[in-house]
Amino acid sequence: MKVRQVETVTTSNKIILSFCVSFLSPRSSLWFWDKLTLHEPDKNDVLKWLSLHKKHGTFPSRRAKIVIRVKGETRELVVDLITRSIVSNDMYRGHGYPPFTFTEFFRAIQLSLRYPQFQESISKRGLNISEVSCLPLTTGWFGEVVTRRVVRVTCFYRGGTTNIWSRPIEGVSLLIDVETMEVIKYSDRFRVPLPEAKDTDFQSQGPSTIFCNGNSSQLSIQGHEIRWANWKFHVAFHARAGVVISTASIYDSSKNKYRHVLYKGHVSETFVPYMDPTNEWYYRTFMDVGEFGFGRSASTLIPLIDCHGNALYMDGYMAGADGRAQKVSNAICVFERYTGDVSWRHTEVGVPGKVITSGEPEIDLVVRMVASVGNYDYILDWIFKKSGSVKVGVSLTGVLEMKAVNYTRTNQITSDISGTLVAENTVADNHDHFLTYYLDLDIDGTKNSFIKAKLKTMPAKASPRKSYWRVVKETMKKEEDARIQIGFDPVELLIINPNKKTKIGNHVGYKLIPGRPAVTLLSNDDYPEIRAAYTKHQVWMTCYNKTETWAAGFYADRSHGDDGLAVWSQRNRPIVNKDLVLWYTVGFHHSPNQEDFPVMNTLYDGFELTPANFFDRNPVLTS
Ligand code: MN
Ligand code: CU
Repeated sequence: MKVRQVETVTTSNKIILSFCVSFLSPRSSLWFWDKLTLHEPDKNDVLKWLSLHKKHGTFPSRRAKIVIRVKGETRELVVDLITRSIVSNDMYRGHGYPPFTFTEFFRAIQLSLRYPQFQESISKRGLNISEVSCLPLTTGWFGEVVTRRVVRVTCFYRGGTTNIWSRPIEGVSLLIDVETMEVIKYSDRFRVPLPEAKDTDFQSQGPSTIFCNGNSSQLSIQGHEIRWANWKFHVAFHARAGVVISTASIYDSSKNKYRHVLYKGHVSETFVPYMDPTNEWYYRTFMDVGEFGFGRSASTLIPLIDCHGNALYMDGYMAGADGRAQKVSNAICVFERYTGDVSWRHTEVGVPGKVITSGEPEIDLVVRMVASVGNYDYILDWIFKKSGSVKVGVSLTGVLEMKAVNYTRTNQITSDISGTLVAENTVADNHDHFLTYYLDLDIDGTKNSFIKAKLKTMPAKASPRKSYWRVVKETMKKEEDARIQIGFDPVELLIINPNKKTKIGNHVGYKLIPGRPAVTLLSNDDYPEIRAAYTKHQVWMTCYNKTETWAAGFYADRSHGDDGLAVWSQRNRPIVNKDLVLWYTVGFHHSPNQEDFPVMNTLYDGFELTPANFFDRNPVLTS
């Protein structure tokens, strides 16, 4: 096999890849570019290259990984862009499939709308096919033998609204093989009233106030490398993960050098199970990152709605289903923000004759993207602070997934409706959102340890006090010890560098400040839970392994749970003084309210990584 044509275009550090591999005739209809991404170079090579300040020699390798579906099989190829050769070509024989392409979705929708039985169902309901919108949903795995890549298409009626999710044509669905493009199963099981279009629209008149701080003098962006205040890091756009932050380090003025904090961080996987066991809903257990891709779902950001007035924008590039480069304009925005909060302050009245007040305002740097995956919009933030803190935040907004029902008032409800009646004939189903982050922290170097600092109530002896608490630190020895559910015990989670100390002797570290406690409530034997076992704990720590990136496994669609974070953690590797990867899940249990209709206001949660004896003193006070 030979690479027929490999083109690499470099424009201000943006790599646009365009390939044509003569593996099969490109005219073959059985030929899919399911995934084409930059094949990540070895971490040691990257760190060596960075430490040489990029001056000496060229980067060791530039490779692309390609996943191709051909004749019902999945092949993985690694292509060297410099030598124009194929480095490896393997068949993937495990469970699960690569993400769907938008071409496949588009064709499945077209097939549904043209399907005679479906058209008949629509006209029997007195509806007009030209007003129907269909959407393909992934189907999960429920113990069956999986032999085909399928989507289950469910449809909606516009008829005077743009909020299609509010008018589901309940009871009708089509199971479609996306590779043969045939309808495997058609079902029209029952009819319920179509919810009214009235009051479902949500289009606003645009932003009402405009303000602009002007460009920040502290911010510089060169290609994908960002420098702001004491931070420097790299921002990439990834078809699957969306924004990827890498090689983030912070300047330490007392040491006159940048010190490593985060080698790489991004959303690894999501899990959005709906809590409705009925035939039309039970399979809705989405893994948005592995099944669709946050980068593939990236929205072009709108100034003053999505980002601050002074924001700078970066375009996103990825390979489309045909292997050609695709661009998402303004996919990422970067802006400095006066939060209106206080970074630090103090008023001192203890100096005779004086009242001394001093402080500084909190100023953040925000890196943001929005992934619009079907009905939901995920606003994904990385917020850098001069204090050394990195806040990672998720805001959920968009439109709820809704189900048409017979009821128009709550007093008519006679059985479990699996959600909330949010409008007449409209139930918004209960569901969860879990976003699991991959965080390869390298705190002042790659060798780190994970510490559980328990706050333990102690009896006070020889004191008027009866009790106090003290910090009892325990180093987690194995991966098994590092599966942690937050929220129950008073505990601080620290990632330290056991080989480095501050001047006065504390171990250099960072602290995880978690968000709300939220783990999956599904039973262990439930199939979606088997596939998404990574949501069983909010915190995991694993040994770094280049191939362990996607929490549900690389092939998430129809996966069986035999790959992924929970399986890797079972290996129970030692984690003391090793290169570690922290996994944190931001979780929401969402029982909808009427205010979430017709469009919901943002729901926020996140976590923070903050220095813990990393610096010798408060780094905001540089002078
Ligand atoms: Mn690490
Ligand atoms: Cu929700």
